[in-house]
Amino acid sequence: MGGEHRFSVLGANVRQGFGITVTTVYFIHDESGTQAQIIEFLNPFYRLITETLNFSFENLKTKELYAQIDMRLETTPFDFLLIQHDGQLELFDAEKRRIRIDFDGDRLNYSRKVIAKDPFLRAIGQNRKNVLDVSAGLAIDSIFLSQHGHNVTAVERNPLLYALLNHAKDHSENLKKRNVDFKFGDAKTFVQTLKSKDDFDCIYFDPMFPDKAKSALPKQEMVLFRQLVGSDTDAAEILEALLKTGCRVVVKRPAYAEPIGFKPTNAFESKLLRFDIYENYK
Ligand SMILES: C[S@@+](CC[C@H](N)C(=O)[O-])C[C@H]1O[C@@H](n2cnc3c(N)ncnc32)[C@H](O)[C@@H]1O
Repeated sequence: MGGEHRFSVLGANVRQGFGITVTTVYFIHDESGTQAQIIEFLNPFYRLITETLNFSFENLKTKELYAQIDMRLETTPFDFLLIQHDGQLELFDAEKRRIRIDFDGDRLNYSRKVIAKDPFLRAIGQNRKNVLDVSAGLAIDSIFLSQHGHNVTAVERNPLLYALLNHAKDHSENLKKRNVDFKFGDAKTFVQTLKSKDDFDCIYFDPMFPDKAKSALPKQEMVLFRQLVGSDTDAAEILEALLKTGCRVVVKRPAYAEPIGFKPTNAFESKLLRFDIYENYK
């Protein structure tokens, strides 16, 4: 995992080393072989505590699982708990909310249906095959685009999230047939590595919505996700860097919200969402 990065940058929400907050991650892992890569990758970003899994996680009842989590919280308080077991990687917070990314499962809407005149697909444009998603998140949008024939490169700057995405991709049957590639790092630096504005046909940016916006995620994932990635307060700065590439940029916003910093050239809207389009903006 660690050796795959084409560029390495600390994202704005990677705080270790800046003396602001050090996030403690407790990693309980089996010995399937990939744990060493995960440890090597996460180590620079977090205060990492590791333990080899010596209980059966798969058949644990909720009560027993909570007891396991509480035991560790008491002895070694953590911000996030990562458990690797039976080919899965799951993330918990100290309140026992959990996220598991499974691209072949339904829970996170990885097979959402197209709505009439789907504004997202229209904003990207069917003929724009190669899409750069600079805000991978849980990759719900990236997977949707790949289902509709786009080749997607998705960048994520949160290390824990990137570890979950990469793991999910390696274990997904559906993704074997599709072209989705995850990169770790900050979008601003990634776009500086592009050789020409034609490297991608379209750049897609979906920064965190303001708190009051309705989320498509189930509640526990939404709360944990927000806690994990923060609120992307640098979105306008990132958008400016994206516009400088000269590439078509599409930004997802809640329908009620103002565009981020720059006036779009066009937009497609549904009841809850708006996709702002920036064309020839350089
Ligand atoms: C609202 S979520 C995106 C959700 C995503 N579209 C999906 O379908 O799951 C925003 C994500 O973008 C990431 N992000 C925000 N700004 C970024 C940047 N400049 N570079 C890389 N990742 C970024 C955040 O860490 C967060 O995971």
